[in-house]
Amino acid sequence: MILVTGGAGFIGSNFVLDWLAQSAEPVLNLDDLTYAGNMQNLASLQADPRHVFVKGSIADGELLTKLLAQHQPRAVLNFAAESHVDRSIHGPEAFIQTNVVGTFKLLEAVRHYWAALPLEAKQTFKFLHVSTDEVYGSLSKDAPAFTEQHAYEPNSPYSASKAASDHLVRAYHHTYGLPVVTTNCSNNYGPLHFPEKLIPLMIVNALAGKPLPVYGDGMQVRDWLYVKDHCSALRRVLEAGRLGETYNVGGWNEMPNISIVNTVCNLLDELRPRADGKPYASQISYVTDRPGHDRRYAIDASKIERELGWKPAETFATGIRKTVAWYLANPEWVSHVQSGTYREWVQTQYAAA
Ligand code: NAD
Ligand code: DAU
Repeated sequence: MILVTGGAGFIGSNFVLDWLAQSAEPVLNLDDLTYAGNMQNLASLQADPRHVFVKGSIADGELLTKLLAQHQPRAVLNFAAESHVDRSIHGPEAFIQTNVVGTFKLLEAVRHYWAALPLEAKQTFKFLHVSTDEVYGSLSKDAPAFTEQHAYEPNSPYSASKAASDHLVRAYHHTYGLPVVTTNCSNNYGPLHFPEKLIPLMIVNALAGKPLPVYGDGMQVRDWLYVKDHCSALRRVLEAGRLGETYNVGGWNEMPNISIVNTVCNLLDELRPRADGKPYASQISYVTDRPGHDRRYAIDASKIERELGWKPAETFATGIRKTVAWYLANPEWVSHVQSGTYREWVQTQYAAA
């Protein structure tokens, strides 16, 4: 089996669902179910014996050692993290605890487990660390996109904590020979995305008749990738990525935030017009900018394409249409997330613990 950490979050749950739709190999899913972890994302796997869920932290070395010994995974994929830049500005400590200390504890447990594996299992084992393009910092308007050679220049507590985790992963390969691969991906969007991030926030606020808060002048540029394409890239890297390497993953799709917001508004105008006939874009409200806001990210994904033959299947036009349609088709998921009832599972399940 494979061990996935953070598999109840946005990308992790998409990954687990896609994996089990395509493979018979079981998944051990370790997630601490913070506010970002949602068991409803995995509801379709409730009766599936191939999905083994454990609530716990990657910072819990004892638990990790026990789980590794018990389940003997052939690979570990580390999605678990605090992931929201704005939260990292308001409260950076959780980011250091999970992204830095947690990754360190995970690496330690995995290193000891891997060192004791029989030769064949040892030779095929892989640790895939899921990271972000934000570690590279901000690009000027015309600068070439980030390649894997770009220097790390993280600018937020979030990106600094992810950069630290990437460095630890690299060091464990260099020093101990741990078979690692790291991916640095651009902004994901798609189903099951927590509505604190730009695209899902705009969709749910628009439908609720609330303002659509655009930071600063709205001209910050991000590269957007449909989440299922990120998942296919991770499967490919797990399968064939070269040990000790890093792979940039992106959608070749740079867009300013205001264009993203307008695209979402236009799709909603088409698919669920407002009762008063006004366009959703009339709800756009420019608000104070994010402190230290990175102006532009852009990913050069030619290495993963050249070496591993990976390419995104969705364009932004197809992916964003699927995404908006998913939110319109899943009002219950949205309302449970907004009301907080998605967290009741944690209380019910662990009330006696
Ligand atoms: P998310 O916030 O939606 O999910 C994170 C998950 O990790 C949650 O289920 C949470 O409960 C869990 N978690 C948090 N702390 C934990 C801990 N100590 N132990 C175990 N589980 C813990 O994040 P996401 O957007 O799905 O991102 C997943 C990974 O991908 C992160 O490492 C992130 O840095 C990286 N990434 C995200 C994006 C993006 O656009 N969302 C892009 C590139 C890379
Ligand atoms: O680049 C990859 C990163 O993308 C991941 O590593 C992070 O985990 C993920 O959260 C994301 O970070 P961003 O900060 O780019 O994503 P977010 O959705 O928070 O914001 C996208 C852009 O939209 C950013 O320029 C800030 C802006 N924004 C965001 C929100 C929530 C707004 O203008 N208004 C908003 O309300």
